[in-house]
Amino acid sequence: MNIAIIGYGYWGPNLVRNFSTASNCSVLMVVDFRLERLTELKKQYPSLITSTNLDDLFNNRAIDAVVIATPVFTHFDLAKRALERDKHVLIEKPMTNSVEQANVLIDLSIKKNKVLMVDHTFLYTNGVQRMKKMIDAGEIGKLKYFDSTRINLGLFQPDVNVLWDLAPHDLSILNYLKSEKPFSVQATGISHTNNGIENIAFLTINYQSDFIAHFNCSWTSPVKIRMMLIGGDKKMIVFNDLEPSEKIKIYDTGYQHTTDEDKNKILVDYRSGDIFIPKIENKEALSNMAADFISAITNNTTPISNFQSGLDVVRILEAAQKSIKNKGKEVII
Ligand SMILES: NC(=O)c1ccc[n+]([C@@H]2O[C@H](COP(=O)([O-])OP(=O)(O)OC[C@H]3O[C@@H](n4cnc5c(N)ncnc54)[C@H](O)[C@@H]3O)[C@@H](O)[C@H]2O)c1
Repeated sequence: MNIAIIGYGYWGPNLVRNFSTASNCSVLMVVDFRLERLTELKKQYPSLITSTNLDDLFNNRAIDAVVIATPVFTHFDLAKRALERDKHVLIEKPMTNSVEQANVLIDLSIKKNKVLMVDHTFLYTNGVQRMKKMIDAGEIGKLKYFDSTRINLGLFQPDVNVLWDLAPHDLSILNYLKSEKPFSVQATGISHTNNGIENIAFLTINYQSDFIAHFNCSWTSPVKIRMMLIGGDKKMIVFNDLEPSEKIKIYDTGYQHTTDEDKNKILVDYRSGDIFIPKIENKEALSNMAADFISAITNNTTPISNFQSGLDVVRILEAAQKSIKNKGKEVII
């Protein structure tokens, strides 16, 4: 199977490297508008075909699949053209910049019988896979909350706000771990530049059950934090992605409440037990992701980060954007 990659900026080189070493596929071509990026690529991969012209890719019948690693606003057009040319498509996160566009791509991929997948890289980390196993096995209990902080002195993106840039990772993890569909969102944010694109944003997702999720995203923090707290009624998980080896800690912590009938008071009983640190193999998530895409094409399997996962994330982001523009008003999903 021959793969072509569009976009050799910051993220593209990671995709070229992982697909080049993946089984059952070879990277045939890389396209980027910027000649200097292709010159850079040629130093490492002299045999790869490079081009600044997208037609070279779309007209090449030997290319079976296209990987899109360009800015978000270009995803829809590029993916649509690739599907129309009967090519399987992998799009970098977030899938598109609207639900309408995501739905057009999904319908087209079904009509063309081609794989359409999104790179939600974190779903392929051994840490997230381990959390999924523990949650599904009931070890954490009934999930009560998900609280994520993803902040640093980040690169201001010219086309999307900080939620579209940073939250897809955490949103895809949330949707993967929690099968219940979100009910509504409320979000606030601020732009400290004159382009109106928010560089700090806070998002809350409400559910019909008693579960709640919250996200804090910023490009303007002096410290880098990549942390998720996942609370269940049996145990609580702390996922710290900046920890080199001990990314996940399971706290045997909980609380029980009873109501004192006479005084009508809530009495809370706390439990603080052991902390368990599972051993997690540190394999690069992108190689698992590449293998999942190839398997979806060659073995007809459903990828973990499938188009539904892409659409679900875009749906939340679009609703959050609406809420931000309406000063935090609740938007039903
Ligand atoms: N999965 C992850 O963890 C992860 C991490 C970083 C970025 N990303 C995603 O990867 C995508 C690219 O991000 P980036 O940071 O690499 O951006 P970038 O701006 O560094 O690179 C994009 C490259 O695409 C090229 N390009 C743009 N439009 C093109 C077109 N129409 N045809 C050909 N080339 C074109 C540009 O010249 C540039 O070299 C985004 O969707 C981003 O969200 C994902």
